[in-house]
Amino acid sequence: MRLRHCSNVDDFRTLARRRLPGPIFHYIDGAADDEVTYRRNTEAYERCDLVPNVLTGVETIDMATTVMGQRLAMPLFCSPTALQRLFHHDGERAVAKAAEKFGTMFGVSSLGTVSVEEIGAAIATPKMFQLYFHKDRGLTNNMIERCLAANFDVMALTVDTITGGNRERDLRTGFTSPPQLTPASVISFALHPAWTLNYFAREPFSLPQLKTHVKEGTNVAISVGEYFSSLLDQSMNWRDAEQVGVKWGKHFCLKGIMSVADARRAVDIGATGIMVSNHGGRQLDGSRSPFDQLAEIVDAVGDKIDVICDGGIRRGTHVLKALSLGAKACSGGRFYLYALAAAGQPGVEKALGNMRSEIERDMKLMGCRSLAELSRENLRFR
Ligand SMILES: Cc1cc2nc3c(=O)[nH]c(=O)nc-3n(C[C@H](O)[C@H](O)[C@H](O)COP(=O)(O)O)c2cc1C
Repeated sequence: MRLRHCSNVDDFRTLARRRLPGPIFHYIDGAADDEVTYRRNTEAYERCDLVPNVLTGVETIDMATTVMGQRLAMPLFCSPTALQRLFHHDGERAVAKAAEKFGTMFGVSSLGTVSVEEIGAAIATPKMFQLYFHKDRGLTNNMIERCLAANFDVMALTVDTITGGNRERDLRTGFTSPPQLTPASVISFALHPAWTLNYFAREPFSLPQLKTHVKEGTNVAISVGEYFSSLLDQSMNWRDAEQVGVKWGKHFCLKGIMSVADARRAVDIGATGIMVSNHGGRQLDGSRSPFDQLAEIVDAVGDKIDVICDGGIRRGTHVLKALSLGAKACSGGRFYLYALAAAGQPGVEKALGNMRSEIERDMKLMGCRSLAELSRENLRFR
């Protein structure tokens, strides 16, 4: 399998699996407990069918959308994800450049491996920063100030990681950031010499958003679960979220909202967006899928706040289904992470290109010239 043969997310996943040492592949691919929610996030789209219209003259279509004040050339953007230089040596640089080419938004994680200053200077398209709320308020405030200085457009406060999810694949493989040398991981590195050479020969691993404040930002190996449980503030509440939004002062979004009550409170504290998300099934297994929760959230707050459907997206039709229910845009992680691991920036460009072609083709087949023409009339649930 080569990059040019990758027609869908599963193809990229196959290539990523071949290129990455096992613990790193499973960190991307895995989820919490029995991974029921992870599977359901995609399966949910299959319980609902599209009903097309025809003869509408679809020679040109417009898939642009505006979300949290950002005009996106396509209605799917790259969710913030951690540790990208572990997946490919270009990491966030590759994803940022690919997102820019497709005119879509890129989210940089608090656990990003390239600095917000570098990403801010590298791309002109909309940028989101994903904030974790640390016990060390100096660190949290420093991240906000750095993102303001680096001209980020949107701040997303992640609210679904109050403690670490039970990611059993990571427990089994002993995955830490950065990876530790154990007998099992050494074998896995030896079996993936190209990855290993790049990892050890290039710029040393670090977490530039953290390293000014905590030793975990340098080369101290820590599991992601330990990071959530020991560095993040479990007392975080609505007042804290509101204060983050005020300090930020620009478009502000809560990432990981699942209930209608919380969606209403997000409106009350002045957020301009919510990402309906269960963190790609990586936190609370057994929680409902974003797509299944979407209609009731859109009905409650869709006229007051931009609703984004995050996770489980594997096809253009999934995006069209979420937009038909009233989401302003969709976002996802693994669909571009497998591609990053498979082939760096050209990989992410191919993944975004595949999605854009699918969305365009599917809009034409649906008889839709613009996203505004999608509605619940187009959908039937089984
Ligand atoms: C490898 C990986 C790392 C992630 N890191 C973060 C992170 O640092 N912060 C965050 O808010 N969400 C993170 N997420 C969750 C994504 O932002 C997004 O919610 C999720 O990937 C959506 O599900 P999908 O992968 O099925 O598209 C991560 C997801 C993956 C797969």
